Amino acid sequence: MKKILTLGLLAALLLPTANADEGMWIPMLLGRNQAAMQKAGMHITAKDIYDINNACLKDAVILFNQGCTGEFVSDQGLFLTNHHCGYYYITSNSTVEHDYLTHGFWAKNRSEEIPCRGLTATRLVRMEEVTNQVLRGVSDNMPEEERERVVKENIVVVCTEAVAGTHYKAVVKPFYYGNQYFLYVNEVFTDVRLVGAPPSNIGKFGGDTDNWMWPRHTGDFSMFRVYAGPDGKPADYSKDNQPYRPLKHLDISLKGVDEGDFTFVFGYPGTTQRYVTHQQMELQAMQENPVRIALRDIRLKHYKAAMELTPSQRLKYASKVASIANGWKKWQGETQGIVRLKGIEQKKEQERTFQTWAADRPQYGGVLAELDRTYGRLAPVELEWTYFNEAVMASDFMQRANSLRKLADLTDPEEARTAADKLIAANEKYFSDFDQHTLVDRAIFVETFLYMHHQGYAPYIDPMVKGKQIAEQFLGSVYDQSMLTHRDKMDKLLKKYTPKQAAELEKDPALKLFRAAMENAYTDDKERTYDYNKQQIARLMRTYVRGMMQQYPDSNFFPDANLTLRVAYGHVKGFRPHDGVYYLPYTTLDGIMEKEDPNVYDYVVEPRLKELYRLKDYGRYANRNGELPVGFIATNHTTGGNSGSPVLNADGQLVGINFDRCWEGTMSDLLFDPDYCRNICLDIRYCLFIIDKFAGAHHLIDEMTIIQ
Ligand code: ARG
Ligand code: ASP
Repeated sequence: MKKILTLGLLAALLLPTANADEGMWIPMLLGRNQAAMQKAGMHITAKDIYDINNACLKDAVILFNQGCTGEFVSDQGLFLTNHHCGYYYITSNSTVEHDYLTHGFWAKNRSEEIPCRGLTATRLVRMEEVTNQVLRGVSDNMPEEERERVVKENIVVVCTEAVAGTHYKAVVKPFYYGNQYFLYVNEVFTDVRLVGAPPSNIGKFGGDTDNWMWPRHTGDFSMFRVYAGPDGKPADYSKDNQPYRPLKHLDISLKGVDEGDFTFVFGYPGTTQRYVTHQQMELQAMQENPVRIALRDIRLKHYKAAMELTPSQRLKYASKVASIANGWKKWQGETQGIVRLKGIEQKKEQERTFQTWAADRPQYGGVLAELDRTYGRLAPVELEWTYFNEAVMASDFMQRANSLRKLADLTDPEEARTAADKLIAANEKYFSDFDQHTLVDRAIFVETFLYMHHQGYAPYIDPMVKGKQIAEQFLGSVYDQSMLTHRDKMDKLLKKYTPKQAAELEKDPALKLFRAAMENAYTDDKERTYDYNKQQIARLMRTYVRGMMQQYPDSNFFPDANLTLRVAYGHVKGFRPHDGVYYLPYTTLDGIMEKEDPNVYDYVVEPRLKELYRLKDYGRYANRNGELPVGFIATNHTTGGNSGSPVLNADGQLVGINFDRCWEGTMSDLLFDPDYCRNICLDIRYCLFIIDKFAGAHHLIDEMTIIQ
């Protein structure tokens, strides 16, 4: 039985079209999915989700800056997103006296809400297919560069016309590798204020240890409010601005979800690569990921050791480590998932069926062979650049060497003066804890370079090594002798620096090494190879994807994510990560208490939360077993950018906030497996419990529409 199932599944995976639960669908075209969604359990219609003539769910969803999603939960512009999305605004508004990151922040009234400079909230007004307009004047045999130019020009015209006489902003995005184009007309709000955030040991509970993992207990939410001018239209910050009145805000359900329940996620997924050929999958999962992981292992080892030493070092490296570790962990899960699913073989099999189909179709017959040759030229350059980014740029030392290089390249005295002054100012900060930091940074610099050297990607080091030195000693001496680690020497030169002294800078061993690395990795030849082959891949993939859609004319192909609004749907569902283990689809406050460890930073629990737990004071937020639900997982297909997205039930009511994926399924950007791919959601009841019972911010709860 098991065997048959597995074979059946493999056959399904072989289709280049969506598996059960796979897909990120275009709201405007959701009518095509309506029957399937209703069959899966949805009670509402596609029009309730996206409707150009009436207020609908899409009016309650916003793009938070250019990388997260948020949803309105009141008629006063109040919206929810993740704690990790609001992180920058929470930390940057914190001081030692008012440490909102550690202690949380709850504005008691509108006047306490904190303006967040630079933060935007974007609402989609409408979308429209504009393929014909964008491809006007484009022909099949046009050189790719020429095509790009024409397309760009047409897009400018389309956008200009679309928003003429309005305050809206327009963007046009390619779909299916440029086989289709859609116009998005947006309303972009620029007065957005921080309203609330839980303490980080709730909002980031489990930290990087639990990141990408299930079972999860992170209260990953924060709250903001959109303000508008007196006319209700977007306006830059002014104290006269008023809360924006959204056309629609979400109803919140306290009913929760059970295993098997229908859910959908409505948000802004950033990037997926569902249709790439085996070469791209191989390059990423088998070549680039291992390099990135190995080099980040080195960095993380040194930062983490330092963070164990003192609280101030923990603080200093926390956000750096969070971002290094986020990719590092995801790529491990991704590569393991591809290996487990035999992803590369699957791709090759798909390509064989395509080749058979394409044999008597001259337009398509040569595409795959040409892609193969193109990747053959591109891959070595791409891998080399991965080394450059992850090794050469790993240390502050080399990043500062890059600043020296930029200074040395300036010929205009005034520009040079400004740049030199900037470096002096940066030194002020950099050298304030130099003694501690240099131990970490020197080790990272030496080890990452050595790693790259051993792999054959830093051939320029050998001729630089002097006499009896070994490479490691050479690198150490570069670090120790460079002016970058001798503030007096560096400041002295910078203070009187003019472009005439460029030669002085060039003598510096760190600058010499950095230049050697640049000249090795970024030759004209490699840049040309890269640009040319990328363009070819764009053209070939456009053809290949068009071909696949003709090969399977009855299939519904979802377009890869491109940071446009999408709907993903599926069911609340546990899974088996390994033999003998089954993961339940939800977690509770009991799990937070199980994980509690006052001595481990990531697992400290707030006394007030413990007290509520002891009293079992969960009020209306408990589930029917009397537990306080914290998180749940579902089979919705999501990716980076979906963070903060509303998770809605069959009636279109808010039941959760999306914030992550399960580690065993992180290959879903390349390959979706319904047995392993799960998105991780914060249960809305835990979010409300924290606002209401923990923080006592009843006035915020009162703004919301809560359905018992
Ligand atoms: N893995 C999630 C995402 O990709 C959350 C990242 C933030 N959390 C963290 N502990 N670093 O964005
Ligand atoms: N954590 C991701 C985000 O911030 C979501 C994901 O990759 O699943 O968008």
